[in-house]
Amino acid sequence: MESIKIEPDRGWVYSAELRSFISGNPGVIRRIGTLIEGMVDVELNHSETLEDLQATVTLLGYHSDADRTYYRVDFDDESHGHHAFFIKKINNKTKGDHEDGVKEFKNTRKMAETLSEYDDKVRVVEGVMGINIGDRSYFVSKYEEVMISGYNLDNLMDNNPVLEGRLKKLKEFLQVNGYTDVQWGNMGYDDKKDEIIVFDVTI
Ligand SMILES: Nc1ncnc2c1ncn2[C@@H]1O[C@H](COP(=O)(O)OP(=O)(O)O)[C@@H](O)[C@H]1O
Ligand SMILES: [Mg+2]
Repeated sequence: MESIKIEPDRGWVYSAELRSFISGNPGVIRRIGTLIEGMVDVELNHSETLEDLQATVTLLGYHSDADRTYYRVDFDDESHGHHAFFIKKINNKTKGDHEDGVKEFKNTRKMAETLSEYDDKVRVVEGVMGINIGDRSYFVSKYEEVMISGYNLDNLMDNNPVLEGRLKKLKEFLQVNGYTDVQWGNMGYDDKKDEIIVFDVTI
């Protein structure tokens, strides 16, 4: 199997936290990337483990246009504890202007700043890494364990006018601040913390 090469000049951004993790685990990104690239035509929820890294990658889903694939990676080691990340793999980033993990990482950072002056019951997912490799791209964020999204959020809004009002107000605020593709499909709700979560950030 061909292993992926990572060349920083092609676009690679990551959080300070991830930087220290990478330096303590050389090759970790390349190995996870190679594992993902090798998971072709596998069934949903298929998972593979890299024993020495105590890392498990699980296929979460395919987008209907087949251009994007979603994964979860769980790390479970004694020194770092348990960490889960959400990975979006974009297969053909030249197709859509916004479909670029590096841009998404930067946009997510920007939204965190924008939201710092909004209310504290709204947050954006925590971007961890964005990487462009030729026509492919990855965006990685911290996994949101209790996020209600998609149809479940639609249903919740139907039964919760207060939440619906908060989401509508937020949508307007983000649009006024220049964000695009602001829609319920890019928002979630953490009912344990009563927090709205925004993801898939474009501006
Ligand atoms: N950090 C995350 N943790 C858990 N689930 C997530 C996270 N980010 C996104 N998702 C889920 O994955 C789905 C697709 O994510 P999104 O970034 O909107 O991809 P796309 O660009 O294909 O629209 C979302 O609807 C959401 O349910
Ligand atoms: Mg989306």
